[in-house]
Amino acid sequence: MLYFRKYAAEIRTTGFFGVLKEAYGLAAKRTVEVARRYALKKSLYSGAKSILMFLLGYEGMWLCAAILGLSGKLGVSDLIVLLNAIVSVSWMLNNFERSVSGLFTDAEFIENLKQFFAYKPKIDETAGGLKMPKRVESIEFKNVYFKYEGAENYALENISLVLNRGDRNALVGINGSGKSTFLKLLMRFYDPEKGEILLNGVNIKKYDVNKYRKHMGIAFQDFAMFSATVAENVLLDEVKTEEDRARVTAALKKSDVYEDILKLKNGIDTVLTREFDENGAELSGGQRQKIAIARAVAKNSDVILLDEPSSALDPIAEYKMFETMAWLCKNKDVLSVIVSHRLSSAAVCEKIFVFDKGRLAEQGTNKKLLENGGVYAEMFKKQARNYLTEAAYE
Ligand SMILES: Nc1ncnc2c1ncn2[C@@H]1O[C@H](COP(=O)(O)OP(=O)(O)OP(=O)(O)O)[C@@H](O)[C@H]1O
Ligand SMILES: [Mg+2]
Repeated sequence: MLYFRKYAAEIRTTGFFGVLKEAYGLAAKRTVEVARRYALKKSLYSGAKSILMFLLGYEGMWLCAAILGLSGKLGVSDLIVLLNAIVSVSWMLNNFERSVSGLFTDAEFIENLKQFFAYKPKIDETAGGLKMPKRVESIEFKNVYFKYEGAENYALENISLVLNRGDRNALVGINGSGKSTFLKLLMRFYDPEKGEILLNGVNIKKYDVNKYRKHMGIAFQDFAMFSATVAENVLLDEVKTEEDRARVTAALKKSDVYEDILKLKNGIDTVLTREFDENGAELSGGQRQKIAIARAVAKNSDVILLDEPSSALDPIAEYKMFETMAWLCKNKDVLSVIVSHRLSSAAVCEKIFVFDKGRLAEQGTNKKLLENGGVYAEMFKKQARNYLTEAAYE
């Protein structure tokens, strides 16, 4: 299942748009075929609806014209022009409604598709700007405030912190504390309301946003597996050359899922999900996560962001995912940010940032934070107790 609206941003920021458009074009065609089979039933229904709509629209506009005419606001010539317009607009509306409703009431995913095409990025993506530097040394948040549209409270409030290359940076905090929002701002899905974000000392708004985003290897929290081949799912783009294929293979090996993929019927060319392909492969939760990591790795980027899945994942899969990512980041000269829900996993990171209600409550190493006896130490004790209790029941 594709959640177009939810993933619009993810798809739009990659070259994957074209690949999906093709897949959905095919699906839309099939829907039309199905629709034809039910043509009689449909035409009776939409015919009745069209007539009703026509009458309502026509009568309504007549009434409006009559009132304006009677009240002396319209001259005779105005009235003639208006009546002509009413007739043609009514017919246009009628025809339009008939053709659109015939096609678009059929399937929910066509509705999703409409929303997807209507997705308007919050950030002007055509503005251009500076090229990205070859090496990303640091990213700094300086007094950043951010509130979602229509929300009462700030999702991020006065965040100031520095992320350095070479460190494994972990973000921790309870649900809703602002960790994913932090990454979304870092990806420029939104801009801060106040404050600034600097990359190598330059405000990220000054960079060309497309080049900037291409530079970031990100594995999202709610990553989507698209109805495309494994290779396309890794690159989030068309796979054209042998070099592309080699990149996919290397990334799958690094994220420790290559052997599983080889076992599928067509290897990296196997279509995932059964949405459009009856023979599509369905992967396990753990395998999907590894594909998400391979996505971040395949970008060959020196910035790697991972938003660990939060929902009821089995703890072993979650732990393994973190391990793979932490290992990768340690063995690569990169700037990494990993969101983690397990403090015991985050403990290996050089820098830990503790979020609490949209604010940065604490930062430091695991050792320092435990000594501080603050929010982190409290959470750590609580999680340790939960695991001990879980273990007791096993
Ligand atoms: N698209 C959105 N629109 C409005 N509010 C949002 C949106 N996304 C998140 N929020 C709100 O912003 C706050 C921070 O959410 P965020 O997703 O950043 O938390 P989180 O720390 O990543 O949580 P989790 O651990 O559950 O992933 C929450 O109060 C959340 O309800
Ligand atoms: Mg989150």
